[in-house]
Amino acid sequence: MAILVTGGLGYIGSHTVVELIQSNFEVIIVDDLSNTEKYILDGIQKITGVRPVFYPFDLKRRELLTQVLEAHKIEACIHFAAYKAVGESQEKPIDYYENNLFSLINLLQEFKSRNISNFIFSSSCTVYGQADEMPIWEETPLKQPESSYGRTKRMGEDILKDFAIAHHKKVSLLRYFNPIGAHPSALIGELPLGVPNNLVPYICQTAAGIRACLSIFGQDYPTADGTAIRDYIYVVDLAKAHVAALKKVIHHKTDSLIDIYNLGTGKGSSVLEVVKGFEAANQVRVKYEFKPRRTGDITIAYADVSKAERELNWKASTSLEEALKTTWQWQKHLESRNS
Ligand code: WQD
Repeated sequence: MAILVTGGLGYIGSHTVVELIQSNFEVIIVDDLSNTEKYILDGIQKITGVRPVFYPFDLKRRELLTQVLEAHKIEACIHFAAYKAVGESQEKPIDYYENNLFSLINLLQEFKSRNISNFIFSSSCTVYGQADEMPIWEETPLKQPESSYGRTKRMGEDILKDFAIAHHKKVSLLRYFNPIGAHPSALIGELPLGVPNNLVPYICQTAAGIRACLSIFGQDYPTADGTAIRDYIYVVDLAKAHVAALKKVIHHKTDSLIDIYNLGTGKGSSVLEVVKGFEAANQVRVKYEFKPRRTGDITIAYADVSKAERELNWKASTSLEEALKTTWQWQKHLESRNS
């Protein structure tokens, strides 16, 4: 029985594939390579000694998905494949709805007809919008996400809840906070194609001289240092949470059809704290300047992680500085590849 990992060559997907293989799962990857490169598969093989089966196609092509499900006995699916750039989603909302929702619906139509249960969905804390209280827990009321990207995550969750109830399937919705870092081997990591949207890749490329200066969006937030606060979780810790959630659904250690987990560290860090942490962890300087707030940004978000700790027997264990060291090591690997 194999685990289908869509978007399995992407940032969080590839780190999860490594952890799945190291937990003795057979993995089948489908990835359209729209936001990654095939050499990530080489990195997975170097780390684990296993080269998982890989199908390079877009999940909107349902006929190709059908062929995969006929060729392999799939026990569960971890669905990462989606467009995820918040800013881009505002410029191309219909592309985001088409890609993120059609891909999901194709998977569910196929799973429904094949009676495959056990579906794990890559969701996001963005579904909470700016929560009224901190920390954010799974019962915190959801708000209208600020971006089309965030709305595809909220819609995806609603579609999966209906799917689970109507067809008696097990679904796990994993709401990530802010993933950062790279595998300690520096053989896989985040490939921000183009100008990075997210903070840590931008900090890293500024330190590497690829970007001239980091813009810190907003110095007037109601926080200790005036910059916005997020919960930055190390990507390998996040990957391990997916394995824990998978084991829970396939071993039916749950009465509920739908499980929801916030995956963070439970600690908030400001933008300035991340910049200073990166400089201290890697003994580098990061040039930055303050700019006005970015449209759609919230002030603060950090998780209450007690449910995941209790029910998944999982806890993020890597410090911010340790995670930031791995980002820099990955950057050095990329430079050596490109030299
Ligand atoms: C973090 C903080 C920025 C860049 C989004 C999605 C979430 C997930 C992660 C996909 C904010 C500030 C950023 C920069 C800055 N999506 N910042 N200068 O917006 O919290 O979350 O990305 O995986 O679903 O909502 O993450 O890293 O973009 O921003 O000052 O160049 O850093 O304003 O306060 P965000 P982020």
